[in-house]
Amino acid sequence: MFKHVLVTGGAGFIGSHTVDLLLQRGYKVRVFDNLEPQVHGNISEPPAYLTREAEFVRGDVLDRDALLKALDGIDAVIHDAAMVGVGQSQYQVERYTRVNTGGTAVLLDLLVNEKTKVERLLMASSMSIYGEGQYRRPSDGALLSPRLRPDAQLEKQDFEMRDEHGEALEAVPTPESKPLHCTSVYALNKKDQEEYSLVVGRTHKISVTACRFFNVYGPRQSLSNPYTGVAAIFSSRIKNGNRPLIYEDGAQSRDFIDVRDLVSAKLFLLENPASNLEVYNLCTGRSTSVGEIARILARLNGRPDLEPEIVKRFRSGDIRHCFGDPTKLSRLGWKPSITLEQGLQNLVDWSATVEAEDKVEQAHRELVARGLVKE
Ligand SMILES: NC(=O)c1ccc[n+]([C@@H]2O[C@H](COP(=O)([O-])OP(=O)(O)OC[C@H]3O[C@@H](n4cnc5c(N)ncnc54)[C@H](O)[C@@H]3O)[C@@H](O)[C@H]2O)c1
Repeated sequence: MFKHVLVTGGAGFIGSHTVDLLLQRGYKVRVFDNLEPQVHGNISEPPAYLTREAEFVRGDVLDRDALLKALDGIDAVIHDAAMVGVGQSQYQVERYTRVNTGGTAVLLDLLVNEKTKVERLLMASSMSIYGEGQYRRPSDGALLSPRLRPDAQLEKQDFEMRDEHGEALEAVPTPESKPLHCTSVYALNKKDQEEYSLVVGRTHKISVTACRFFNVYGPRQSLSNPYTGVAAIFSSRIKNGNRPLIYEDGAQSRDFIDVRDLVSAKLFLLENPASNLEVYNLCTGRSTSVGEIARILARLNGRPDLEPEIVKRFRSGDIRHCFGDPTKLSRLGWKPSITLEQGLQNLVDWSATVEAEDKVEQAHRELVARGLVKE
């Protein structure tokens, strides 16, 4: 069994919680992270929340030599490092693809061509690779995997998913087997990361598991990064006395998983040989609308007056509904244990202790300027 784990992106939100749980379980841990300024601001030392019990190496996954050095003595890698912003990826095509797909390629190339002891690799993939979730047509019960809603429909502010005859479809849990219809550059990057890892793992007998994280929330998610994490973005708005800004009508839904549940699932998979060369949804199976998240957060922050601002406009590439089918992972023996209310309370308690710079309007203006949101 492996003992010494490298967590790329380990100074980030999910990575740092992963590090904490690994240490608790008795692993030796090294973090490899470039402290990306968009996430961390301009810092030269790792963030205060990152435990000093893990060894920290500052480096970029695109720096082959630095990454090779960081792999010294490592027998398992958790690859979390990535640029994480769906909307931003739509115009920073080269930057996202270089770091996400390219960084994974560097890591895999090292595992294949250099003498390392790595025998296990856990990849951070994403629900975004599904595109739209799975739906059922009420009239005949057919299961459908639709593409994006046409712009002409969205321009009429008709936001629900419909079949080609206009029948409204009902969202149902999305299993791993649903066809992948990526709708953003970030999603394509994640699909690449997943597939490159599985192909290389199969070919070179490295044990690989791809984890499709749904919408993860919790302490340490950057409250000043307006590009990722809807619960963190809303928290930042509310802390600054602003109403959460919501595209469409607020009824679009996702599957929100507490970061503590998520890292528990990651380590469950890391330690489970049956997960070799498999992909898993890391989700709760619960569907929650984005509007509901905003309202709960406003209430828990003592600001129920900060009703969401529903802009009724749509963002190019956004999906309507996607929540996960957790069956595959639950059959292996893992289930989430934290309710949404408990998880969001934990987020609110933490967010009261940190600074939050609200850059949402700036991010919105960027999308408008690039024609990705129509004014
Ligand atoms: N947060 C979510 O809801 C979610 C959902 C699905 C998948 N994911 C995936 O989970 C992983 C972690 O995401 P997160 O939410 O913790 O994001 P995050 O931005 O908090 O963490 C990412 C970390 O990677 C580091 N990083 C970025 N570019 C790097 C580079 N070139 N070299 C080295 N380090 C680099 C950043 O400094 C940061 O510490 C990512 O792979 C992301 O795609 C996240």
